[in-house]
Amino acid sequence: MNKKILLTGGAGYIGSTVANLLIEKGFSVTIIDNFITGNKKLVPKKAKLIVSDIADEKKILSKINLKSFDLVMHFAGLIRVDESLKKPKKYIIYNYHKSKVFLKMCLRNSLNNIILSSSASVYGSPKKKKISEEHELNPKNPYAESKLKLEQFLLYNSIKTPINYIILRYFNVAGADKKMRTGIISKHSSHLIKLACEVAVGKRKKLVINGDNYNTKDGTPVRDFIHINDLAEIHLMSAKDLIKRKKSNIFNCGYGKGYSVKDVINQLNKILKNKIKYEIGPRRRSDSEHVVADTKKFNNYFLWKPKYNNLKYILETSLKWEKKINNKLII
Ligand SMILES: NC(=O)c1ccc[n+]([C@@H]2O[C@H](COP(=O)([O-])OP(=O)(O)OC[C@H]3O[C@@H](n4cnc5c(N)ncnc54)[C@H](O)[C@@H]3O)[C@@H](O)[C@H]2O)c1
Repeated sequence: MNKKILLTGGAGYIGSTVANLLIEKGFSVTIIDNFITGNKKLVPKKAKLIVSDIADEKKILSKINLKSFDLVMHFAGLIRVDESLKKPKKYIIYNYHKSKVFLKMCLRNSLNNIILSSSASVYGSPKKKKISEEHELNPKNPYAESKLKLEQFLLYNSIKTPINYIILRYFNVAGADKKMRTGIISKHSSHLIKLACEVAVGKRKKLVINGDNYNTKDGTPVRDFIHINDLAEIHLMSAKDLIKRKKSNIFNCGYGKGYSVKDVINQLNKILKNKIKYEIGPRRRSDSEHVVADTKKFNNYFLWKPKYNNLKYILETSLKWEKKINNKLII
């Protein structure tokens, strides 16, 4: 498919992985990124790169003709829940206001096919064991609020503007690219698997488990971890579908299976054949007990089965990536 995709946040973990897959499949990819959390080394060589803030309309319009693109994938944003609790305004500005400026500019230039990175955090503390897209929306922190506001912006505008959108609500994105081109680089990540792997390679002394008194089988929170290459495949399918059928949709992106924090540690210990050091700390404000996707909607719509829904594989790729960046093979 020789189509042109505009992709924001392509120097980040997820955007760069999706960009690689799109390029492999024959798409032409242009990336906009200001490197606020991203890294130039993650940007695929075959992608065109525009170093700019997404809200810098003048700069973007001076470099590209938005009308020439078939679809935009909007990944750019800030992702740390802990930081958003301390600096709520920053999150509303970056994830909502700047995104709004950018998307309005796309719409003014007839770039109407939009894939948006959203998050399972919009559901808040789920009332059900598996969360469907119909579950009530109840964000518990400024990060989640900023994501929901942007979803609502698209939904509201789709009434009066010819927007075709697919909103993808990611659960816990994890693992590194199967070819080791991309993974999490950030030094400030709060991703459990990233932190556990940092302990495993000696970069961090110990892992802190944030609360072990939740109402789960072992007291630690349960999450649905989706491998980054499966998530990239979801974007590829969504892009093809949106370009062809122009049908708006909202989909959960997960596997529908939950693992507790202790499950993750135990599985990592099996791979390492020794034990990583951890201690129990207090609960984090706004953490939920059990967040697992109901994935029927996406899987039935696309008749799709994931390839990497295996915690061991997720951890092995994460560990391999952590060793790679620890040995300065990438940064
Ligand atoms: N990682 C996860 O588990 C997860 C879960 C749910 C949703 N998401 C969403 O996925 C998207 C990508 O997340 P990620 O994990 O790849 O994060 P990341 O921090 O690795 O990547 C974000 C990228 O966006 C860029 N960026 C941020 N603000 C920008 C701006 N104003 N202008 C230009 N570039 C900007 C950063 O430099 C970075 O390269 C985010 O929207 C995030 O909310 C991620």
